[in-house]
Parts: sequence; C-alpha cells; structure tokens
Amino acid sequence: MDKPYSPAVDRNKGPIFEVLKDYVMEGTRLLEVGSGTGQHAVFFAEKFPSLTWVTTDLRENHAGINRWVQEAGLKNIKGPEELKIGVDDFPKKPFDYVFTANTLHIMSWKEGKTLFKLLGKRLREGCLTFFYGPFNRGGEYTSESNQEFDKSLKEMDPRCGIRNFEDVVKAMESFGFKLLKDHEMPSNNRLLVFERLSK
Ligand SMILES: C[S@@+](CC[C@H](N)C(=O)[O-])C[C@H]1O[C@@H](n2cnc3c(N)ncnc32)[C@H](O)[C@@H]1O
Repeated sequence: MDKPYSPAVDRNKGPIFEVLKDYVMEGTRLLEVGSGTGQHAVFFAEKFPSLTWVTTDLRENHAGINRWVQEAGLKNIKGPEELKIGVDDFPKKPFDYVFTANTLHIMSWKEGKTLFKLLGKRLREGCLTFFYGPFNRGGEYTSESNQEFDKSLKEMDPRCGIRNFEDVVKAMESFGFKLLKDHEMPSNNRLLVFERLSK
C-alpha cells in the first residue's frame, strides 16, 4: 500500500507541539486515540524521546500507521493497538495522558460520550487529556470554513459533525474532569486540555 499522508498533520503538528511541550513530562505514557496516518505519533515521539507514545486506531488504519512507525524506527512508539471507541476498551497499562486529534467530529456524539466515560474510568487524578480540532461555541460555527466542513461531514455521515465546546466541557465534567485550558490554534481549531480530578 502507499504510505498514507495527511497535509493537515504537517501543518498542525508544530503548533500542537508548542502547546504540548508545556504539559508533557518525560518518562511518562501517552495513549493516542485515532492515530490516523501515524504522522503525529512519529513527530511527537521524536520530540519527546522518553515519552512512550501508544498509537491506536481501527484495524483498517494499522497498515498505514505501521509504515510510518517502522520507517521512523523510534523505540518509544508502541502499537498500533485496535481501539474503536464504542467497541473496545483502552489498552490495559495505565496512561498519564490521552491525546486525540480531529476525532470527536468523526465519531458519533454517543461514541464521544463513551470516550469521555472511558477517560474518567481509566485516568488517575492529575492525568491530562488533549482534544485537538474544531469546536462550535454556544451552538454557533466559529468560521465559514468550519460551517462548510460540518456540512460536508454530515453529508458523509449524519452522525458526524463539529461538537459544541460547552457540551464537551459539560460531559467531561460529568466524568470527573475540569477544563484546564482552551488553547486557540491556527485555522479555527482549538486544543482543549482537561485534568482528571480525584475520584
Ligand atoms: C479525521 S481522522 C484524524 C486522524 C488523526 N488523528 C489526524 O489528526 O490526522 C479521524 C480518525 O478517527 C478514527 N475513528 C473514527 N471512529 C473512531 C472510533 N469510534 N474510535 C476510535 N477512532 C475512531 C478514524 O479511524 C480516523 O483515524
């Protein structure tokens, strides 16, 4: 197969790193949900050499992720593990962080809430979750391009769609998290950082 390539990841990986570097401590473990091509894993695992980055996705994306991971030859990338939210549980070992980019608008809202519930169940106090992607504000699009993107998503599958920031925060709070920071990112994206509170 051809090596999959996402131009968007090449554009967003640098700005995402500028945020992650202030949160991620070395010697820790991070679970990535929906690794896609595997490009984020390769970029961030090189930037954080003693962080263990565990890739996951649906089985159909594993061959592509393997291509990137094998080529990179980085010992601190693990997986890909099979993880379809709504079907599978997280891999067994504990994680300090969970990172997921551009997945909440691809999953159904029901799957999104299942992810939030799993995060609440599996992360210990002080662990962080990072959600990168577009979000609506107060039920409104934040740009014309996001509105067009949402329309195209819904044409593809009516269960997809850009999520409302306030709904994500409320649902995450109900599973034991607090929003630490809502980072503004290029191209009308956000990077939301949530901290697991005591159980
Ligand atoms: C738009 S892609 C984003 C991929 C990558 N994170 C990126 O930023 O390029 C959405 C990803 O979510 C994955 N995905 C879709 N439904 C999922 C589910 N229920 N559980 C886990 N991953 C899912 C897809 O397989 C795909 O890799």
